[in-house]
Amino acid sequence: MSAKPKVLITQKVPETVQNYLNEHCDCTYWDKEGTMPRAELLEKIADAEGVFLSGGAVDTELLDRAPKLRVVSSSSVGYNHFDLEAMKAKGVLGTHTPYVLDGTVADLVLALMLSAGRRIAELDAFVKAGKWQKGAVKGTELFGMDIHHATVGIIGMGRIGEAIAKRAVHGFDMNLLYYSRSRKQDVEDKYGARYCSLNELLVESDYVVIITPLTPETEHMIGKEQFSLMKPTAFFINASRGATVDEQALIEALNNGTIRGAGLDVFDVEPTPIDNPLLKMPNVVTLPHIGSATDKTRYDMAMLAAKNLVGALTGGEAYVVQELQGVGKV
Ligand code: DGY
Repeated sequence: MSAKPKVLITQKVPETVQNYLNEHCDCTYWDKEGTMPRAELLEKIADAEGVFLSGGAVDTELLDRAPKLRVVSSSSVGYNHFDLEAMKAKGVLGTHTPYVLDGTVADLVLALMLSAGRRIAELDAFVKAGKWQKGAVKGTELFGMDIHHATVGIIGMGRIGEAIAKRAVHGFDMNLLYYSRSRKQDVEDKYGARYCSLNELLVESDYVVIITPLTPETEHMIGKEQFSLMKPTAFFINASRGATVDEQALIEALNNGTIRGAGLDVFDVEPTPIDNPLLKMPNVVTLPHIGSATDKTRYDMAMLAAKNLVGALTGGEAYVVQELQGVGKV
């Protein structure tokens, strides 16, 4: 019987996931809070054939320290932390966790829309601060914007985009526009979605949602010019990656009243620095990148990432990222 492949698990995983990994691999675990510090990862990777992580750059520095590495399994659907060219050059496969988080991320996007549009976080703080007093609210100052029958424009119509479309149309009777690399006839048929240019989407939408992967093509795809096309009553929702948006341009658009508000799960730098002006804006809902963070979904992601790791190391099934399919020293 050949020896089990040596793998490095850089974050805590549930016990059943550990049991599964132990069955198939010779595992070294990070069992403290958070994730294995970079310095330790760079040291321990020397012996590993596989690594399980959910972020942190997989770059030349790391790959150069990892002569035996064959598989990087990320417990995430996004893989912008992979240097794809460097991985290709070294013959290292990268896997990710699609499908299992679609509904969970879509739920969060609707929550951000509701929270920004109906000012939930802001008004929760208002009540808790004791500001809800007789006579204190005189006119329209607590009013928000409807979700139902409003127009939502989704940038990026992948699986998560479609799950958002379903909720927006079936749950909230929204009108749906979308802009994506390719046209999705089934989404148009199922949800009455209209495919349009990015500019048209920005001009016509009450809620602009960006949920595209971060790639060289999508980096800073929303900036000053794009915000200037949006309605002054519109809300901008980002649950993709911070870098799809020019954050300075977003700050300016909010400061100048170019748009009405925003709901953000992601930032340019994460954790976002405490002096980020977005954190001071009552019309901006901010979350700490929790799109997929429910107990069940994070469990499913961890188990899928474990199965991907084992599958890719043993020539079995794995969700290898598109750009690295066919690569590898398996
Ligand atoms: C992903 O899986 O890419 C998510 O952003 C993690 O929450």
